[in-house]
Amino acid sequence: MVFHLHKNEIEVKRQPKVSNLKAGFWESIRSGFGKNNTIQVIETPSSEEEEEEPLPEEFVLVEKTQPDGTIEQIIFSSGGDVDVYDLQALCDKVGWPRRPLSKLAAALKNSYIVATLHSRKFSLGEEGNAEKKLIGMARATSDHAFNATIWDVLVDPSHQGQGLGKVLIEKLIRTLLQRDIGNISLFADSKVVEFYRNLGFEPDPEGIKGMFWYPMY
Ligand SMILES: CC(C)(COP(=O)(O)OP(=O)(O)OC[C@H]1O[C@@H](n2cnc3c(N)ncnc32)[C@H](O)[C@@H]1OP(=O)(O)O)[C@@H](O)C(=O)NCCC(=O)NCCS
Repeated sequence: MVFHLHKNEIEVKRQPKVSNLKAGFWESIRSGFGKNNTIQVIETPSSEEEEEEPLPEEFVLVEKTQPDGTIEQIIFSSGGDVDVYDLQALCDKVGWPRRPLSKLAAALKNSYIVATLHSRKFSLGEEGNAEKKLIGMARATSDHAFNATIWDVLVDPSHQGQGLGKVLIEKLIRTLLQRDIGNISLFADSKVVEFYRNLGFEPDPEGIKGMFWYPMY
């Protein structure tokens, strides 16, 4: 089997640096090559500029030592390793209505990226006995080419307000951009519009409205 796309990707990386200018929403969707609703402008290459490092699938975001000597690490992962019961417990904590577990499991399995935050606590020298707990999740569905939509963004209330929700979405966006998926959308609860606006999301770009169809039963 010949992987032309892989070869093309390598060639693209060797091309001059490409920077982005904001373009029309539909223009970027139709052209398919835009990133974050952008058009691309070629700049003179600089030999000193480094390629952005690809994000590892899993890494330690934060490490804190508690007064009692316990170490807490917050681990980001885009590997999709989520126990459906842990997710249900987390959804309960933020007060979301329960969904059937089988459907939740199917939604996780069929997502393009499932990004998680886990808290890992251990005493010095006892890393092997670390206690790992799901404290955040966001997932994205995708056509694997142009578009992705982010769903089910949540952070454990005991860890909210520490910047973790923001980092979770930023890393998820970076993971999508690394896969050359630049049209990223989501449906924001009215209470969290500002949270997403802070992250660069724009409601109703060019007056475009999200429209919903609900069954009439
Ligand atoms: C929304 C949620 C994921 C935010 O996570 P978080 O870890 O508390 O957010 P952060 O601490 O990373 O906040 C990042 C920034 O957004 C702001 N922010 C957080 N929640 C906000 C909200 N509800 N409304 C407006 N701004 C908000 C913070 O003040 C912070 O601003 P700063 O960068 O200027 O300091 C979290 O509150 C949550 O899980 N809520 C319940 C589930 C939910 O509503 N999910 C969204 C469904 S669409």
